[in-house]
Amino acid sequence: MPKKTNYTAKKVDGHGRVNYTKDDDCVWRDLVAQQQPNVNKYAADPYLLGQAKLNLPADRVPQCIDVSKKLLALTGWKVEPVPALIGFSKFFRMLSERTFPAASFIRSREDFNYIEEPDIFHEIYGHTPLLTDERFARFSQVIGQVGQKCDKADYSWLIRLYWFTIEFGLIRQGSKIKALGSGLASSPTELVYSVSDNSVIRKPFEVIDILRTPYRIDIHQPIYFVLENVDQLIEASKRNLLSDIKTAQTMGLHTPVYAEQKKEL
Ligand SMILES: [Fe+2]
Repeated sequence: MPKKTNYTAKKVDGHGRVNYTKDDDCVWRDLVAQQQPNVNKYAADPYLLGQAKLNLPADRVPQCIDVSKKLLALTGWKVEPVPALIGFSKFFRMLSERTFPAASFIRSREDFNYIEEPDIFHEIYGHTPLLTDERFARFSQVIGQVGQKCDKADYSWLIRLYWFTIEFGLIRQGSKIKALGSGLASSPTELVYSVSDNSVIRKPFEVIDILRTPYRIDIHQPIYFVLENVDQLIEASKRNLLSDIKTAQTMGLHTPVYAEQKKEL
């Protein structure tokens, strides 16, 4: 998560709704129009099935309260608007309560193709489809529960498991590698890059390896981890992750493959 943003949260009214402007709705509409053809081509089935279940509007910013109604019926999750940036402690607590924190603002035209911090397009278009699937819903909740038991110093270790799966995970689907993570589904450029660029390192999913892999939030990922199937994620959620974090700390972080480590979390 970035530590600073120039955006401010959009306030929710007494009915739980945000008054998005015409321009906001147009940005959402244009983002969906640009992204959906590539999502259809490169995103993994669980994400696409989730999209079909939610049937998000294509012409306006969805309201968290409406998406929550659908998610509650499917997996008991809800989406709650939060300030533009929140800390790890609140993030983990909300995940443990099956509540997804959603930054309520939408990016400006200047940031159309890339924005470092999460906006409502990333939160709703990127994240909520996987939250319709109990397997990802459960895994996300477990990350939150483990986060609540962690020392603050362990947050940056635990979050890597979330980062390399829910945010930027890949998954094998037949003979192809598909994009699973929300950060990929909502990124106009990284979605295609993650599954097709030859310079990318794609490693097999392995919890300790992931916990030891540093990342930057401000570049396309040079390393992705590839799930063979979703069951691997379920197995990971049953592990003693607190103990895994200690093991990873004892073994130490991998040397970053990127040239300069500016903002490791
Ligand atoms: Fe995210």
